[in-house]
Amino acid sequence: MCLSILGKMKKLFLMVCSTIISLSSIAQTDDNMGLIPAPVSVNKTSGSFVLDHTVVLLNKEHKNLKIAEALRSFALTKGFKLKLVKTAPIGQKVMELTSMGADQLPNEGYQIKITSRHIKLIGKDAGLFYALQSFMQLMPDKKLGNVIQNAEINDYPRFAYRGMHLDVGRHFFPVSFVKKYIDLMAAYKLNNFHWHLTEDQGWRIEIKKYPKLTEVGGSRNGTIIGDYPGTGGTDNEVYKGFYTQQDAKEIVAYAAARYINVIPEIELPGHSSAAIAAYPSLSCFPERDTPIGEKAPWSGPRTGKQVQQTWGVFDDVFVPSEDTFRFLEDVLDEIIAIFPSKYIHIGGDECPKKYWKESEFCQQLIKEKGLKDEHELQSYFIQRIEKYINGKGRSIIGWDEILEGGLAPNATVMSWRGVKGGIEAAQQNHNVIMTPSTNGLYFDHKQSLSVDEPLTIGRRGKGTSNFTKVYNYDPVPQELAEDQKKYIKGVQANMWSEYLESPAKVEYMLFPRIYALAEIAWTPLERKDIKNFTEQRIPLHLNRLDQTATNYWVPTPIGQTDEPIQGEQITINLKVPVVGAKIYYTLDGYRPSENATMYIDPIQVIVPQGQKKMLKTIVITPSGKRSVVTETLLNNGAADVKVK
Ligand code: ACM
Repeated sequence: MCLSILGKMKKLFLMVCSTIISLSSIAQTDDNMGLIPAPVSVNKTSGSFVLDHTVVLLNKEHKNLKIAEALRSFALTKGFKLKLVKTAPIGQKVMELTSMGADQLPNEGYQIKITSRHIKLIGKDAGLFYALQSFMQLMPDKKLGNVIQNAEINDYPRFAYRGMHLDVGRHFFPVSFVKKYIDLMAAYKLNNFHWHLTEDQGWRIEIKKYPKLTEVGGSRNGTIIGDYPGTGGTDNEVYKGFYTQQDAKEIVAYAAARYINVIPEIELPGHSSAAIAAYPSLSCFPERDTPIGEKAPWSGPRTGKQVQQTWGVFDDVFVPSEDTFRFLEDVLDEIIAIFPSKYIHIGGDECPKKYWKESEFCQQLIKEKGLKDEHELQSYFIQRIEKYINGKGRSIIGWDEILEGGLAPNATVMSWRGVKGGIEAAQQNHNVIMTPSTNGLYFDHKQSLSVDEPLTIGRRGKGTSNFTKVYNYDPVPQELAEDQKKYIKGVQANMWSEYLESPAKVEYMLFPRIYALAEIAWTPLERKDIKNFTEQRIPLHLNRLDQTATNYWVPTPIGQTDEPIQGEQITINLKVPVVGAKIYYTLDGYRPSENATMYIDPIQVIVPQGQKKMLKTIVITPSGKRSVVTETLLNNGAADVKVK
């Protein structure tokens, strides 16, 4: 009993020691000093700054007071109490914030200069804010040390647009979580929050002139259970929620204080079932009931227009009538008054043409306007809305379907169905945001093929995306001519929420992929380094995250894949993907847990001729989070091996 307690204590002591060593050594020895996204340049110099009790925080400029306060509060969480001063005597050891000289820096750029007696964060506006974000990543935890390596960091972004999207239509998230999401974005220098506010399954923003949008359109009578399309029925529970205009204004202000622009999305002409349920005259066929999905037995009334209870694409879309345009203009007036964003997202994706084909009114309109077909009718729809929004001094962004039937003159295109739409739009001299679902940027897709993954929309492996896939994506298509590349304004990842029922699940899907997004959005291409990213910096950042209440996907062991390994004497060499985590493994077919063998050093597995073994691993983090179980077949000529 006593011995076993002693043994456990020794194990714990070793674990704590190894965590401390790994954390400080990564921060000190890593070429990027542990920073995500990797900066443009990091030049380490000899010596270090010791953050002792004599250090003061120097800020001479009133406009930088908020940043200074934020740094002081953060330092406190790390165990350092910093006195904020406006002047400091010569020789005083200082940490200084300044905008002097920042005019010479690129847009959003900053410098951090660390010498043994002086740390200087140089930047203005967003630049100084990003200097702060980087410096917060450099600051040690007093419990683990107080030393910061001397260095000079020069940094600025590759792309002006660095975006993260959140769908609040399928599932609604409280204001407090939206703010947390914005904080997480800001920490990684993302600067555009694309807020997908309206959907078939829920209209989530208060519009004062049309109260039924949220009263009726903000509520559904049930939600499909399980896979889509599936046979599980719905849960029969009313699901509702919306943001008041006051909530939205609060979020806009919160984001602006973190140099994040909020782009609202009002979906049109498709994905509009919730609006149509509230105001049926917005449909081509106001009297027609919402068809009940065969694969999702319905909860509640089966007649009339309904807010959708299952996922997918629906035929009942906005009718392009003068009344609909008046309605949309009224809605957009209120949206424009809440959101100062230059860009207003108008959707434009997945608009079936079935109802427009069947509608006498639409067919007559096509003739009247001299349009070729329903695709040109969609283009007419988008161009009218664009004209209205341009008239208010704003610009539209639309999903890449807005290319069909002719692009609106000033539109920015979000390329989601692969990269083709982005290429086409750039070739037409239109600005583009790359967010291809084919290249890992759909964060609603699962992060591995393991059966341990939770239910997601990218079923049966379709659309699997892990952080490596995101990292390997370059947003600038090689197909573009040199002078067209400038139209690629940036990159974004999308967080569709069909299967994201809770903030914890959103976080699970966000981390660590957001790190890769940040790096492809910010870091120069030539500075990208997947090995350094995977083996040094992700483990460090996940270790920090592990100590907070934020959820994340635990990566599988570094060095292991699910590709079979052939041979008789096979060496297994693994590394932990989270500092302080442990890898446990089995070779006997059992599912590993903390009761299995702990991986410490490389293992040699002997596989007799004609036989096979299965290596199964699991990663368990200091807070007890678990990776999926990874299986690798070790095979020495066994005959009955199933090919994965
Ligand atoms: C989309 O994923 N329908 C833009």
